[in-house]
Amino acid sequence: MRVLVVGSGGREHAICWGIAKSNKVKKIYCAPGNAGISEFAENVEIPADNINKLLEFALKEKIDFTIVGPEQPLSLGIVDLFRDNKLLIFGPSKFASQLESSKEFSKLFMERNNIPTASFKSFTSYDEAKAYLNESNLPIVIKADGLASGKGVKVCMEMEEANSFLKEIMLDKIFSKSGEKVVIESFLEGEEASFFVFSDGEKILCLDSSQDHKRLLDDDKGPNTGGMGAYSPAPIIDEETKEKILNEIINPVFEAFKKENFEYTGILYVGLMINNKKPSVVEFNCRFGDPETQPLLFRIESDIFDLFYQTALKQIDQYQLIWKRKTAISVVLASLGYPMNPETGGEIKELESFKNTDDEFVFHAGTKFLDNKVVISGGRVLNITALGHDLEDAINKVYDSINKVELKNFHYRNDIGKKGLVKKTK
Ligand SMILES: Nc1ncnc2c1ncn2[C@@H]1O[C@H](COP(=O)(O)OP(=O)(O)O)[C@@H](O)[C@H]1O
Ligand SMILES: [Mg+2]
Repeated sequence: MRVLVVGSGGREHAICWGIAKSNKVKKIYCAPGNAGISEFAENVEIPADNINKLLEFALKEKIDFTIVGPEQPLSLGIVDLFRDNKLLIFGPSKFASQLESSKEFSKLFMERNNIPTASFKSFTSYDEAKAYLNESNLPIVIKADGLASGKGVKVCMEMEEANSFLKEIMLDKIFSKSGEKVVIESFLEGEEASFFVFSDGEKILCLDSSQDHKRLLDDDKGPNTGGMGAYSPAPIIDEETKEKILNEIINPVFEAFKKENFEYTGILYVGLMINNKKPSVVEFNCRFGDPETQPLLFRIESDIFDLFYQTALKQIDQYQLIWKRKTAISVVLASLGYPMNPETGGEIKELESFKNTDDEFVFHAGTKFLDNKVVISGGRVLNITALGHDLEDAINKVYDSINKVELKNFHYRNDIGKKGLVKKTK
């Protein structure tokens, strides 16, 4: 089979690595891909959001199956476009992707279906938003309605900060169209975790739990990022909490999809806040998480291509998902200056110091080839990934590999997974 993967991050590297192992896959293209991906796929110079060019390519190259990594092409309607052209593609429709591309859309869906989430109000008028804000309690969360590459949300501890962010979004229009609407929501206490559900439109398959680390610095300090590291499974989602997630969130969400004739295909990423074992939804995303994909796929024993393929064929029940009973962890090496002003262009000389085996792997994110050298081309650069027999072992392995190498040009967190360890020993 000829497969096209859309995207260029660590998530897409993990997807290409995973599907390349399947004997069903003969050829992989990745648009636009990165330096690491080129080991498994032929990179194609088409940006992930140029959906017309991607269609043209898929038709010309007789692509049998397309897997979409990031949210932009989904929100632009790549799935509808490919399906209209009789091409098999993995992901939700443009309509369904609004669960991610409009925070108001997703909050209204949760509200009318009684899905536990923070209370909220949405605004198109700055004056009304400001008046509401000034009567709200702190902390308060302000969100641009549309896609903003992870920069559109601020958890505000002070009213002054909240007012100035509101002004930046609605008057200075720093997110242009994505900030035409604003959602103001109450603050949820607790610890975040991620839960991924594959849906073929009728039936669902839940993956094991995982946990990302959003903040730049150790101990969850510093600004929000795209994610600095992840591991799976996450002890915060114990059996009791998982039951609640299924009964109070996942099942009601998919029942509501049926009731509303809302066809959802692809991956639903449920961002959770868990407070004393009580889960509520922070947000929905319509695709795999990055970096959670890396440790999740690293733990899958069964055919990773088939997981996507059977889902797209609407026969998810034919797929037998087998997990390695191990813990996987992925630590992000980011370029200096990330997330504000990431330094790019430097050669990555450290690559040869890392191993690529079934237990250890370096997934690339912001890397590219320049004059036969691998150079930094983005904020998050490498994902050092390791598999251990438990979380402690996985943490030791990944940091042993990292600490062996002198990494002067990178910033990374030293405490990925530690939260899970504390929980286990309690
Ligand atoms: N209601 C809330 N209470 C507490 N923290 C929140 C809330 N909403 C968002 N956050 C924090 O802000 C981060 C980003 O918000 P999110 O809704 O996931 O937007 P996005 O991922 O699109 O930037 C979350 O991962 C979480 O840390
Ligand atoms: Mg989020």
